[in-house]
Amino acid sequence: MDFLKKQAKVEDEIFTFQISDKTTKSVTDFYREKPFPHYNKKDNKASLLHSGDSNFLAKIFKQFVGFNKNILEIGCGTGQLSIYFAIGSNNRIVGLDPTKESLKIASRFTKENKIKNVRFVNADLFDNVLKDSFFDFIWCNGVLHHTKDPYEAFKLSVKYLKKDGYILVGLYNKIGRIRTNIRKLIFKIFGKKMILKIDPILRKNKIKADDQIDAWIRDQYIHPVESTHTFDEVLNWFKRNDIDFINSIPSTNFDDYKKNFFQKSGKGNFFSRIFTQLSMIFNSYGDDGGLFVFIGKKNV
Ligand SMILES: C[S@@+](CC[C@H](N)C(=O)[O-])C[C@H]1O[C@@H](n2cnc3c(N)ncnc32)[C@H](O)[C@@H]1O
Repeated sequence: MDFLKKQAKVEDEIFTFQISDKTTKSVTDFYREKPFPHYNKKDNKASLLHSGDSNFLAKIFKQFVGFNKNILEIGCGTGQLSIYFAIGSNNRIVGLDPTKESLKIASRFTKENKIKNVRFVNADLFDNVLKDSFFDFIWCNGVLHHTKDPYEAFKLSVKYLKKDGYILVGLYNKIGRIRTNIRKLIFKIFGKKMILKIDPILRKNKIKADDQIDAWIRDQYIHPVESTHTFDEVLNWFKRNDIDFINSIPSTNFDDYKKNFFQKSGKGNFFSRIFTQLSMIFNSYGDDGGLFVFIGKKNV
């Protein structure tokens, strides 16, 4: 797989580049302490396949991708999703992340579980080390809002996509994250004990392992670099970069996804989009930290 445009050092089977940007370094320092999302101690190929298949979006994405494709995961962290995409397919997966410690965990897992079709790249997205127009699918969830310039990062990501390729971006929503922002203040004053009681994900035991609980608390409440975005802002990013809007979660037009999720859907209008973002405050999207996902297709 010839996916790099710059020469890398190979360390621990990871294509490694120097990280020099100040903001990216502050983010990698943060994740070095507690790599995210991290594994359960008993995780293996079967358990990863099971948890991937239990994730609606990951499962339908994998089905939609099919076979013999190039897939890039930007900000893959400890690599579970990249590995899930690789299991049982002949697709070629690249997971890119600037946090070496996360990738070491990912690389060790692929080695122990004899997964051959994933490669990991230790690089900052802004250093532009990947080949243009190489990937059929790009998955970038929960990453751009932790960078110094989310729009520039999006622009770069799109460069790596082939014509007719698909990109999925997941970002914190400006309105939908309001509840988390309030909890952030509470965390600052009352600390971890209180957050264990009031964070909806932790209260409902959706995360069980201690390492994963700590990683979640850090990620939600004490991240050093974080921004929030609106639906209309991302629609504008799409427009400026010749990306056709395909679909979103939650839906911009009250669609309930009965049809093929990757078939073009309507964008709704300004009011439907505002309504959906306001509802995020009160529903499970708000529980999850106000993350929303947009999918687009490259036109040129
Ligand atoms: C919240 S974690 C998300 C991990 C994974 N995508 C997930 O959904 O579980 C954010 C990830 O973005 C990565 N990241 C931050 N800045 C980055 C950059 N400039 N280039 C590429 N990845 C970056 C971090 O190292 C971290 O692994």
